[in-house]
Amino acid sequence: MSYPSSRIADLHAHVGTTVTVRGWVTHVRSSGKVAFVVMRDGSGILQCVLVKSQVPAETWERFGTLTLETSLAISGEVRADARAPGGHELGVVELDVIGTSPVDYPIQPKEHGIDFLLDNRHLWLRSPRQAAIMRIRHELEQAVHDFFYARDFTRCDTPILTGAIGERAGLFATEYFDEGMAYLAQTGQLYGEALAAALGRIYTFGPTFRAEKSKTRRHLTEFWMIEPEMAWYDSKDNMQLQQEFVQYLVGRVLERKAEELKLLERDTTMLEKVTGDFIRLDYSDAITLINAKGSTTKWGDDLGAEDEALIVADYDRPVFVMNYPKEAKAFYMKENPADPRTVLCDDLLAPEGYGEIIGGSQREDDYDRLLKRIEEEGLPVDQYGWYLDLRKYGTFTHSGFGLGLERTIGWICGLHHIREVIAFPRLMHRLRP
Ligand code: 4AD
Ligand code: MG
Repeated sequence: MSYPSSRIADLHAHVGTTVTVRGWVTHVRSSGKVAFVVMRDGSGILQCVLVKSQVPAETWERFGTLTLETSLAISGEVRADARAPGGHELGVVELDVIGTSPVDYPIQPKEHGIDFLLDNRHLWLRSPRQAAIMRIRHELEQAVHDFFYARDFTRCDTPILTGAIGERAGLFATEYFDEGMAYLAQTGQLYGEALAAALGRIYTFGPTFRAEKSKTRRHLTEFWMIEPEMAWYDSKDNMQLQQEFVQYLVGRVLERKAEELKLLERDTTMLEKVTGDFIRLDYSDAITLINAKGSTTKWGDDLGAEDEALIVADYDRPVFVMNYPKEAKAFYMKENPADPRTVLCDDLLAPEGYGEIIGGSQREDDYDRLLKRIEEEGLPVDQYGWYLDLRKYGTFTHSGFGLGLERTIGWICGLHHIREVIAFPRLMHRLRP
């Protein structure tokens, strides 16, 4: 017999009728007379019930062959059942195995080490926790586009192969025909600035690459960054936008992904407080604060992960640390007129010790000062002619920032390490699967 097919999530429309559902076995059990198959299809999970006396003998036998991750098509009557996961149960009439799954399926319902799980990432993704993280990631990506679309920003895509180095982090390089070295983009920002002069307000959303030899819980070698760039925004306008953006992202996940957060056992108390104004702290005050707590970081240094944790420990909301010393930050940041030792920039630190999720700044718009900074950093000036042109032909006040998607997901999901928030993480010692 053939029946109409349905995804698990759509079963509510088929109560009382017989449908076919296709998916994978997550659990089987039997009392000898009644058997249960729990299956998932990506849209939900469904408990299917077989009564021995009511199905053909071969169907009952086939049930006996089911193992974890067998793919199958099950037909049965859809029954509403408030106690069942997903609210429905299937009274089975037919069961067809599509693909068997040998009993050595690597991921079993027991504790596995993280390296083992990452080696089997292609299968680990099938587990409910991992799927919940991927759904939250998807919600955030969509929220990014909705936020900027509603504000009339133009989404622009910037090159991944570049000649101009954007940040101080490690570079992946490859020979590029007769043109010398090409680098995998560490940022789309410099191109974003050119686009902001053309379109006013833009954002980029793309993969970025950093050959960071740091094995920390917040570094990937390939990560996704959202980089808005706004003409006529100063540093204050920039921070206001960052605050609204982060509030919107957190709000969207709280509103639409409550079930997933629950599955991850995320305590959302702190996330709910993100609606208020964020804390604003000058870099110099941040140094005083952490020194009083025992940190040996000196004025002039960039802040380390431990310093950031010390700073946010006092607050229940995200914290902006503003106006870092020039030597701690990238060449393109605008000198602070009120204190030329510093630049007009901000790092946004997430609460609960998650650390920097955004780096932003007003951009240096003075041709000579920018040229001097490029030279001081020992960057190849000839690669920055086009970037300097933006200051030559109608220079303009402008600002922007970069939000690291994975760090933001890690914080919102309450995960210890960001390697779980991207489907196939790229880490210093991991290129497979
Ligand atoms: O602070 P960063 O280096 O800033 C920039 O790249 C600027 N060009 C952004 C801009 O103004 N348009 O990086 C921005 C964010 C960090 O705050 C962090 O969230 C994330 O990118 N990030 C990383 N995420 C994962 N792994 C890494 N190795 C990361 N490096 C930075
Ligand atoms: Mg930074």
